[in-house]
Amino acid sequence: MARRRLPHFAFQYIFGGAEDEVTLAWNRRIFETLRFVPNTLVDTSKRSLAVPLMGAQIPLPLVIAPTGFNGLSWPGGDVALARAAAAAGIPFTLSTFSTSRIEEVARAGGRLWLQLYILRNRDIVNDLLERAVASGYETLVVTTDANVSSGREWDKRSYRAPGKLSLRCWLETLLHPGWIAQILQNGMPQIANVVDFIPPEQRSTVRRQLFIASQVQRDIKWDDIRVLRDMWKGKFLIKGILTSEDARRALEYGADGIVLTNHGGRQLETCVSPLEVLPEIVKEFREKMTLIVDSGFRRGGDVVKAMALGAHAVMIGRATLYGVAAAGEPGARHALQILNGEIDRVLGMLGRRSFAEVDERILFRA
Ligand SMILES: Cc1cc2nc3c(=O)[nH]c(=O)nc-3n(C[C@H](O)[C@H](O)[C@H](O)COP(=O)(O)O)c2cc1C
Repeated sequence: MARRRLPHFAFQYIFGGAEDEVTLAWNRRIFETLRFVPNTLVDTSKRSLAVPLMGAQIPLPLVIAPTGFNGLSWPGGDVALARAAAAAGIPFTLSTFSTSRIEEVARAGGRLWLQLYILRNRDIVNDLLERAVASGYETLVVTTDANVSSGREWDKRSYRAPGKLSLRCWLETLLHPGWIAQILQNGMPQIANVVDFIPPEQRSTVRRQLFIASQVQRDIKWDDIRVLRDMWKGKFLIKGILTSEDARRALEYGADGIVLTNHGGRQLETCVSPLEVLPEIVKEFREKMTLIVDSGFRRGGDVVKAMALGAHAVMIGRATLYGVAAAGEPGARHALQILNGEIDRVLGMLGRRSFAEVDERILFRA
């Protein structure tokens, strides 16, 4: 439905990966190499999907991942996702490049996390953190795997220059009058939390793209993490870690946890799937910090596999975004309900009543 409703360039922005999209495809195929081994004749008629996550119970082991420019999918896409997450009782992560303001999303209620790209202009960073604290955001998620811009070749096909759609994309967009009407009614989505810092003469779409590109700090390092950890009193996660060495550092620098990710196949092409390195990191760190994993999760069974390998929770990027793109808040709720139903069903068929009973014994590795 998302593919049909969105203009090609907007759908491609969600759907696409880097270069030949080998990692994008591998993120799905990895799940086929992990197969289930069920136990039978267990009374699983009463099941619970609840897990503890950073000091509180959540009714299912999911967190909505940060995705930028959600307003391209649906006006107020961030609020739609946040409300769906709140209804499901799971945290929602707002991207630095969200198209809704921190305060507006806070009104959706629920458990809110803020994702931070380390930007050159520290006034912007300070402002984001101060406003997030004032609005009750509980967790800061610092993303460290996207400060080198990746080779997303569909960008080159969709745009003739930064922010300027190709003629072909313009024409194709005209085939989506519903989407155009929404944009005309609500205005072009803005990077709402950063826009005040863009000089007015640079607020055109083109200049804005260049501004964003110029703001992402290319030389981020562990010292930056130290500074941010000192500034942020709440829970602190680092998103983009895939080695035990970096996990150890994250712990030393005061992180409460990490998100193991390859950015949904959008950054380093032929990067490992987080599931391949998860077991090693689990062995050393599961008892010491929170381990969240993402990239490629589309089915409830995928989530159960990550939990069996020792993850504490799973972040969902595209799966719920497709829901929003298809139908706004009800679409996001529906996507979460599908995942919930699938996780529940898989647990039952595995002969497990809760995640406390899920471990590597349910998996066969091909
Ligand atoms: C359209 C889109 C935009 C994204 N924007 C951000 C972002 O602003 N910040 C960030 O940390 N990660 C971003 N990501 C990565 C997601 O947080 C997450 O790691 C990834 O989507 C997980 O893979 P999945 O989409 O296969 O679930 C984005 C991903 C997508 C698909």
